[in-house]
Amino acid sequence: MNLVELNHVLSRMTASEGLAWVGKHFQSSAKFSTAFGMEDQVITHFIGTKKLAIEVFTLDTGRLFQETYDVMELTRSRYNLDITSYYPNQIKLQNMVSNKGPNSFYHSVENRKECCFIRKIEPLKRALANTKIWVTGIRAEQSINRKQMNVVEWDEQFQVIKYNPLLNWSLEEVEAFLNVNNVPVNTLHAKGFPSIGCAPCTRAIMPGEDIRAGRWWWENSNKECGLHQTKEVSVRAA
Ligand code: ADX
Ligand code: SF4
Repeated sequence: MNLVELNHVLSRMTASEGLAWVGKHFQSSAKFSTAFGMEDQVITHFIGTKKLAIEVFTLDTGRLFQETYDVMELTRSRYNLDITSYYPNQIKLQNMVSNKGPNSFYHSVENRKECCFIRKIEPLKRALANTKIWVTGIRAEQSINRKQMNVVEWDEQFQVIKYNPLLNWSLEEVEAFLNVNNVPVNTLHAKGFPSIGCAPCTRAIMPGEDIRAGRWWWENSNKECGLHQTKEVSVRAA
């Protein structure tokens, strides 16, 4: 099945059906990356309750909020789920922090991207080695960049198929699902943090502000760390 066909198949399924289908057809070559955000918790609920054959992993940047570690722990025990943590390359991290200090990301966009590369992108490359399909919690509503994404697409950067099962869910649908199913969530959401990344690079938003306004708030950039790039569906063999 090529990518266009896979997009056709998975776009017509609910998230729950699609994840079950991916677990069945891709087995050990399917992986889900979680940052324990609201969307991620919906996906984890499906994987955890149905014991789907999709490996769950997180990128521990070393700069996460304590609240994120708390929900990580709650999630592991609630679903009796192994969640693999990937860490930055020790030497690269040591060099960057030793040369530029612990807060280099505030000094320039270039420095910020370097930090995101070392703490997230390079570990993600390792996490996705030998993976055929990468499941993410991206939603189209989150940003202009994400509106252009497809439920299934080819990720050129990581050379994997990317599957975004919640792409067309609204924030209200996500919140209702979490409530009804009593899914553990990051306690920071209730304190004005709809989108949560690293602690030094995330702040609460004001009422009416964009949901990603609290991410890298001091920058006028496109508010992406480089994990997710805009790509068209291309015809590649699945
Ligand atoms: S980010 O690129 O701005 O940081 P965002 O927080 O919106 O991403 O999350 C979108 C998706 O990217 C998540 O649903 C998850 O699949 C993945 N993701 C982001 N950060 C991490 C992380 N630290 N560990 C694992 N996956 C992550
Ligand atoms: Fe570094 Fe901030 Fe990017 Fe986290 S979000 S990796 S602390 S620049």
